[in-house]
Amino acid sequence: MSEALEALIAAVLASGKYAQLAPDFVRAVAIDQLRRHPKHKDALKATKNKLHQVAAAYFDGKFAYGRWLAELAEMPPAERRAACRAIMGQHASTRERLPILDELFALLTAKLPPIRNVLDIACGLNPLCALWLPDLVRYDAYDLYHDLADFLNGFFRLIGVQGTAYAQDVLGNPPTQYADLALLMKALPCLAQFDGAAAERLLDSLNADHLVVTFPAHSLGGRAKGMVENYSARFEALMAVRGWQTERLLFASEVAFIVTRSHGAA
Ligand SMILES: C[S@@+](CC[C@H](N)C(=O)[O-])C[C@H]1O[C@@H](n2cnc3c(N)ncnc32)[C@H](O)[C@@H]1O
Repeated sequence: MSEALEALIAAVLASGKYAQLAPDFVRAVAIDQLRRHPKHKDALKATKNKLHQVAAAYFDGKFAYGRWLAELAEMPPAERRAACRAIMGQHASTRERLPILDELFALLTAKLPPIRNVLDIACGLNPLCALWLPDLVRYDAYDLYHDLADFLNGFFRLIGVQGTAYAQDVLGNPPTQYADLALLMKALPCLAQFDGAAAERLLDSLNADHLVVTFPAHSLGGRAKGMVENYSARFEALMAVRGWQTERLLFASEVAFIVTRSHGAA
């Protein structure tokens, strides 16, 4: 299996669309698919399909990371929020949040104790919302792409926020550092598509006082299909078992849960 596996990983990473992905995650997906599809050609197709489904499908725009960072650096700080909105419009997931961005972060800031340290799990371009958090000191962000992590690290330096963006599989290697708030913005359905049990373990292992967990109100294709009620019922059941308190905020494009964890529950 190991020669076939190495050949499969190399073939995936050689393709432009997947070249920036964290190799450990490509390996995890390739191992899974090679078990199901012993022939190289079939395993390659299946591995790329899975990587598209959980990651690449969201990166459907033009990602001009170098130019974005240069433009943000040149403009007066007061103009950066508007520019960040435009950049968030390039990722399918953050694009849907733009109409509710101001209201969502105003509500979170009002309802939670001062948010100084943030962990952003499966972050996409969401860390640009650092500009909407007035008390922020540190922001650590996790997604699968090296070029995204480089861009976000440049952004954090530019706006004077401590913290690091990582290209890291949060299921295989969950973050361990403490944060006031962990954000899982539309992250769980995507993580669970690869491994539902690991996504649940991740929730338990996060070292944060509060979580904000959101779910999409529509699929990427635009269908609603009772998604809000289904996601809400499943998530509320998960929280009830743990004895964690939740408050639900319902928006047209997204449903958000503010979770307060009981001490010692994790
Ligand atoms: C639905 S998007 C959400 C992005 C962002 N949180 C937001 O709300 O805009 C899901 C993100 O999860 C990332 N992702 C998927 N599996 C991951 C994993 N195992 N580890 C880290 N990131 C992952 C994808 O690359 C994608 O950017």
